[in-house]
Amino acid sequence: MQKDLNFINLIRDRHSIRNYTQYTLTDSDRAQILETVSGAVPLDDGIHLDWKIADAAPMGGSGLLYAECGTSDEELVEYGYRGEQSVLGLTAEGWGTCWYGMAHMPGSPCSIVFGKPGTPGVRSAVLGALSRGHTRKSLEQLVTGGIPADSSPLVRTIVESARLAPSAINRQSWSFEVVSDAQIVIKGDTARFPDLGICLANAMVTARQLAGKATVSRLSEGTYSIAW
Ligand SMILES: Cc1cc2nc3c(=O)[nH]c(=O)nc-3n(C[C@H](O)[C@H](O)[C@H](O)COP(=O)(O)O)c2cc1C
Repeated sequence: MQKDLNFINLIRDRHSIRNYTQYTLTDSDRAQILETVSGAVPLDDGIHLDWKIADAAPMGGSGLLYAECGTSDEELVEYGYRGEQSVLGLTAEGWGTCWYGMAHMPGSPCSIVFGKPGTPGVRSAVLGALSRGHTRKSLEQLVTGGIPADSSPLVRTIVESARLAPSAINRQSWSFEVVSDAQIVIKGDTARFPDLGICLANAMVTARQLAGKATVSRLSEGTYSIAW
């Protein structure tokens, strides 16, 4: 994953695309996409994820990105963590994306639809509204104990990126805690979806962009520290 991308802008501009222009992937598209995906930084490099592209994609997308993945909380977090870095990389390359949980590829918890964004139609507007894609919980709702008034602006930017992470049915089942000007803790639900890993990826790439480095550590099931 290219470190010099403007992840903060990518996170703010990204939204799920549910309407695509018909486009058949070329071999060079596939190679480039798999290269982008392989650049994602692992959280636990002991977890192997072999990402593949399936041609049959819902919503008129050009492809479906997925990997076989175990069902432990750590594997699910890893899936979201690497998958969301891929989503941001693909967004930077002009692809539209949408995490997709309605249908599963064998052995995979969910997948990522991608393709050339089309003109939004009624169907995508309805699906977007049903999944409440345009509403987010406020920082006040998400940050336990609030953000201290004298916190560095960097803290607020990192937490804001975490807040904007996509989640299944827009559940946003996570909470944040500001530990210091160089550390936050993110807690989330690891039961069924890779949402927590997705949120951690947004925070990590933002911390890395602003501070030049970021360390994500698992404190316990569903609780992670991000330090920079
Ligand atoms: C794990 C996961 C599964 C999702 N599954 C679907 C899905 O099956 N169908 C769909 O239309 N959107 C799906 N979404 C997209 C969410 O509805 C969307 O991310 C959320 O509403 C926030 O909107 P945004 O991505 O535009 O910011 C999924 C998102 C995640 C993270």
